[in-house]
Amino acid sequence: MKALLLSEYLNLQLRNLPTPAPGRGELLIEVAACGICGSDVHGYDGSTGRRIPPIVMGHEAAGTVAAVGAGVTDFSVGDRVTFDSTVYCGACEFCRSGDVNLCNDRQVIGVSCGEYRREGAFAQFLTVPARIAYHLPEELSFAEAALLEAVSVALHGVAVSHLSGGETILVVGAGMIGLLLLQAAHASGANPERVFVSDIDSTRLKLATELGASETFLASGAALTSEILRQTNGRGVDLVLEAVGRDETISTAIDCVRKGGTVTLVGNITPQVTLPLQKVVSRQIRLQGSCASAGEYPEAMRHMANGAIDVAKLITAVAPLSDGPSWFARLHAREPNLMKIVLDPRQGYQDEVAVL
Ligand SMILES: NC(=O)c1ccc[n+]([C@@H]2O[C@H](COP(=O)([O-])OP(=O)(O)OC[C@H]3O[C@@H](n4cnc5c(N)ncnc54)[C@H](O)[C@@H]3O)[C@@H](O)[C@H]2O)c1
Ligand SMILES: [Zn+2]
Ligand SMILES: [Zn+2]
Repeated sequence: MKALLLSEYLNLQLRNLPTPAPGRGELLIEVAACGICGSDVHGYDGSTGRRIPPIVMGHEAAGTVAAVGAGVTDFSVGDRVTFDSTVYCGACEFCRSGDVNLCNDRQVIGVSCGEYRREGAFAQFLTVPARIAYHLPEELSFAEAALLEAVSVALHGVAVSHLSGGETILVVGAGMIGLLLLQAAHASGANPERVFVSDIDSTRLKLATELGASETFLASGAALTSEILRQTNGRGVDLVLEAVGRDETISTAIDCVRKGGTVTLVGNITPQVTLPLQKVVSRQIRLQGSCASAGEYPEAMRHMANGAIDVAKLITAVAPLSDGPSWFARLHAREPNLMKIVLDPRQGYQDEVAVL
C-alpha cells in the first residue's frame, strides 16, 4: 500500500509499505480521508517528541471496512466507518466509568513517543480495534468525518463545563478548536445572543462571525478584559472556553469570568503558565481541564448531520496523499488562512486498490 512515512524529522515520503492484516477484534480500514492535525505538524519537526520517526502519522480519519478480524460482529466489509483517535483498553478503572480519554493504557493512533508506536491513517490502509470504531451516517462525507475528532474535542470541552442553559460565554482563540467550541456551545444550550469570541487574527474572527459568534473581539490582555466587562455590565461571563493556552490568554480568561464562574482549559500550547492564584481563590473560580473526548463521537455525528455544527467552512483543501509533503511544509511555515487539510489516499491509486 501507499503510505506517507515520516522517515526523519521534516522529511515525509510517499512509500510502499506492507498492507497490515487485522488481528483479533480489529478492522482493516481503507482510508478515504485523514485530516492533518496541529499535533501532526508539531510532531513533524520533532518539537513534541511524539512522532519519533519512522512513523506513519494521522489520527483524524474515516473510510470503509476492507476486512474484519476474528471475533468482530458489529462491522462488515464495505461499511463506512470512522474511529476514535484514542485507543483505550476498555477494561481499566477509567474506561469502566466511561472516562476513556483517561485510560491507563491510552494510545493515540499515528503516534510514536518512546512508550509505544501506532501506525496512523496517512496511508491507504490501517488496522484499528473495532471497539473504537463507529458507523458513519450517510449524511456525512468522508472529508467531513475527518473533522469528527476535533468536533468531539469541542463537545467534550463544553460537556465538562456543565452548562445548565443560557450561559454567557467567551471563547478565547478562534482556531480550529475555538471555532468548534463556539458551535458546540451553541448546540449545547448557551445563550444564543451571548457567545463572544476573541483572537488576534482578524481572518479567524471573520469565520467566527460566519459560524455564529454574537460579537468578536480583535483583542487580548487588558483590552479584551475591559471589552468583556463592558459587555456584561462589569460582571464577567459565566464561562470562558480557553483554546490557546498561553500565559496571557489564561490570565485574561480568569479576568473575564464572573465570580464563581468556570474557565475551561482546552488550549495547551505552552506546558506551563503563571497562575493568578488569589484571583482564582477569592473569586472562587473553577478551573476545569479538558482532554480529548470521552464518547462524544455519536453526539458529534448527530450535530454535524443535522447542521448544528458546520465544518465545511473549516476545510481548506482535500488533496491526494502525494500532496501531503507539500501541505505539511506549508502548514509548518504557518502560511496564513489555512485551516483543515484533508488527505484522501484513494485519489490517484484507485487501480491499485482494486487489485488488492
Ligand atoms: N485539550 C485537548 O484535547 C486539545 C485537543 C486539540 C487541540 N488542543 C489545543 O487547543 C489549542 C488550539 O488548537 P487549534 O487547533 O485551534 O490551533 P490553531 O493554531 O488553529 O488556533 C490557535 C488560535 O489562537 C490564536 N491566538 C494566538 N495567540 C492568541 C492570543 N494571545 N489571544 C487570542 N488568540 C490567540 C491564533 O490566532 C489562532 O487563531 C492548542 O493549544 C492545541 O494544542 C487541545
Ligand atoms: Zn487531532
Ligand atoms: Zn482503559
